[in-house]
Amino acid sequence: MIKAKRGTKDILPCDILTWQTVESRARELFQNANYKEIRTPIFEDTALFKRGVGDSTDIVNKEMYTFTVGSNEDSITLRPENTAGVVRSYIEHNMERFSFPVKLWYFGPMFRYERPQAGRQRQFHQIGLEMFGISNPAADAEVIILACEFLKANGIKDLTVSLNSLGCPNCRNMYKEKIKKVLTPYLDNLCDDCKIRYQKNPLRMLDCKNEDCKKIFENKDVKNVVTEDFICPDCREHFEEVKKYLSCACVNFEIDKMLVRGLDYYTRTVFEIKSNSLGSQNAILGGGRYDGLVEMLGGKPAPAVGFALGVERLVSLIEKTEDKKLDYFVVTKFPEIGIKTVTMLRKKGFSADFDMQSRKFAKQLEKAAKIALFALIIDENELEGKFYTLKNLQTGEQTKVYDIENAN
Ligand code: HAM
Repeated sequence: MIKAKRGTKDILPCDILTWQTVESRARELFQNANYKEIRTPIFEDTALFKRGVGDSTDIVNKEMYTFTVGSNEDSITLRPENTAGVVRSYIEHNMERFSFPVKLWYFGPMFRYERPQAGRQRQFHQIGLEMFGISNPAADAEVIILACEFLKANGIKDLTVSLNSLGCPNCRNMYKEKIKKVLTPYLDNLCDDCKIRYQKNPLRMLDCKNEDCKKIFENKDVKNVVTEDFICPDCREHFEEVKKYLSCACVNFEIDKMLVRGLDYYTRTVFEIKSNSLGSQNAILGGGRYDGLVEMLGGKPAPAVGFALGVERLVSLIEKTEDKKLDYFVVTKFPEIGIKTVTMLRKKGFSADFDMQSRKFAKQLEKAAKIALFALIIDENELEGKFYTLKNLQTGEQTKVYDIENAN
């Protein structure tokens, strides 16, 4: 038997209503905040992610589904995230000619070749939003507040909002050099990935999950440098304002100096929201500011900020939305009557179904009781008398209805 590939999951009919509820809450909340939905392709030019997400990241180095196609051997990649794709689309369609800021949101599948475990899949879904054109810290705060509001709208409590500032390229480069310097004596003991990160992007080392590396970062001399307040006065002022706006909106947060995020495009504010009810994969959502990405991908410079949320992780935390019962189940032994009646009911906006196998009445009523609010019984007696029997399946009460148009 052919089964779903490891790390992928069917979203079955019994769960789909919960997914639809989450999606409609996102649509409502984000549209109310003036974000427009965008749908970009699931695959993009591989170069977009190499340049956009960054070639010192695990995502680009180990996790991309990349293949070549066609006679010209085009290299394409299934999107591992959607910020790069949205930026590509923003540039390609000159969205800056629309009124600023450009505010976009999305929902869709992403693909990362990771080791599957609870809360981690190879095909997973993200809901996210991106805002272009505003360098003011109010934009960072709006995005974080919307993330919190969305989680609240889904009944999620028990959250920790972690916040950090990665500074701008100027102050960060000095910080990177300091990290490199303090870690030089430990180089031989770092994992192989960190040895590469040491060369390519020393900041990335702070995100390492290897236990030996984590111990090294806990050493006092290293920790002193890692947790040092390295950001320049402008970046500090920006960060202070973000914190101030969040406090105004009553968003509680904690500062996490080790928060560097797994993607290379961030500048200044980065954040993650974790749920204490999830296991080891406890980040529901992550994001930050990426002021250099639009220019780096060939657009006119534009500041930007956004986040993405893992839908599977969110769905695992929320109460299941129960399936709604049908309005009517038409109970009849005559298929032509069944077809005619359900078509008429559906046209009038009711949900309705009938038994196409013309089974015994008892069987049909048993099914009706499971899936509908009312049974509409139409058999010989009814046909002869030109009436219908309407049975309330909750109370068992039966009434004769002569005018089906008013049977509600
Ligand atoms: P990210 O932190 O890589 O950020 O992913 C965001 C969220 O997607 C995570 O917090 C997690 O809930 C979910 N997620 C990631 N990988 C998996 C996986 N393998 N299985 C299940 N869920 C997963 C980004 O993707 C950035 N594009 C966010 C962003 C938008 N930054 C600025 N704008």
